[in-house]
Amino acid sequence: KKTVVSGIRPTGYLHLGNYFGAVRNFLRMQEDFNCFFFIADIHSLTTHPTPENLQSGVKQVLAEYLACGIDPEKATIFIQSDVPEVTELYTFLNMNAYLGELERTTSFKEKARKQPENVNAGLLTYPVLMAADIIIHKANFVPVGKDQEQNLEMARKFAKRFNRMYGKKVFPTPKPFTFGGADLIKVPGLDGSGKMGKSEGNAINLYDDPKDIRKKVMRAVTDAGPTEMNAEKPEPIQNLFTLMGIVSDPEVVQHYEQAYANCQIRYGDMKKQLAEDIIGYTSPIRERIIEILEDDAYLAKVARLGAEKARESASRTLEEVKSIIGFKRLF
Ligand code: TYM
Repeated sequence: KKTVVSGIRPTGYLHLGNYFGAVRNFLRMQEDFNCFFFIADIHSLTTHPTPENLQSGVKQVLAEYLACGIDPEKATIFIQSDVPEVTELYTFLNMNAYLGELERTTSFKEKARKQPENVNAGLLTYPVLMAADIIIHKANFVPVGKDQEQNLEMARKFAKRFNRMYGKKVFPTPKPFTFGGADLIKVPGLDGSGKMGKSEGNAINLYDDPKDIRKKVMRAVTDAGPTEMNAEKPEPIQNLFTLMGIVSDPEVVQHYEQAYANCQIRYGDMKKQLAEDIIGYTSPIRERIIEILEDDAYLAKVARLGAEKARESASRTLEEVKSIIGFKRLF
């Protein structure tokens, strides 16, 4: 069986971007692959959460993973900080990660711009830790959204570099994964431009109440509508259609496409439909999240079982790596 690794930072509720960019693929992959799905709590330290926020964020994502249908009997679900082998490998990989390439990473440049008061070394070496997460389980595939493409490219580079340096094929080259070879997806926000993100303030969360979802969708940016037939769509309108393409039936999308092309579109109707189709996905998940959040004993059991399985796999690789590096004692 091929191995799969992917993680999500516990920095807030899971939103439609996380679900359609990542979790939906996790659900299908757990049936056929050896899967490791984790909560990237160490990565989330780059933005300095309080201990309380860190703890509740981890609990939330764990409950959300389970509520979405990730099955601890099929996949290994674990919390990154429960597997210290990862940070040990990260230290080794850092010795072959170069300042120039790390500084050129888009996500580093973006974050350095967004939080100029906190450009810490963890932000710089973020892709190295991510590479360690992935290659410590010798992953073949990494299901992620479009925004993680470059980080994954770095992971491939670090894996290959280690292999080359020691002349051994220790790590497979991890590939981005989507079903049917489709492009990695980017779920747009509904505030006019860009992607949906936890820190963009434009996210529709799986945990949102249906009332809130209707409100958020109805507030989405639109315009007065096209004035000529078959007009090109401005970005906010395209985003609305993109989201509809993800959550709604093809006939429904077709209907609104036609209406747009004929200059007869009514965005109010379209948004009402979109909200209901989103709620169709989120509301059963939301109910399960609420239930699972009540059950600390179950959450603890899942985390313990996952940590055990993940450590077993990680320590196997780490032993191999240490002996290859030369940490084997000759005395
Ligand atoms: P994070 O926590 O930002 O996002 C988790 C997953 O959700 C996807 N995603 C999206 N996909 C499509 N459209 C969007 N608008 C959208 N927003 C988020 C992300 O692509 C990701 O798949 N660095 C990672 C966490 C990580 C990781 C790893 C991932 C740490 N180690 C190892 C894979 C493998 C991150 O910050 O994701």
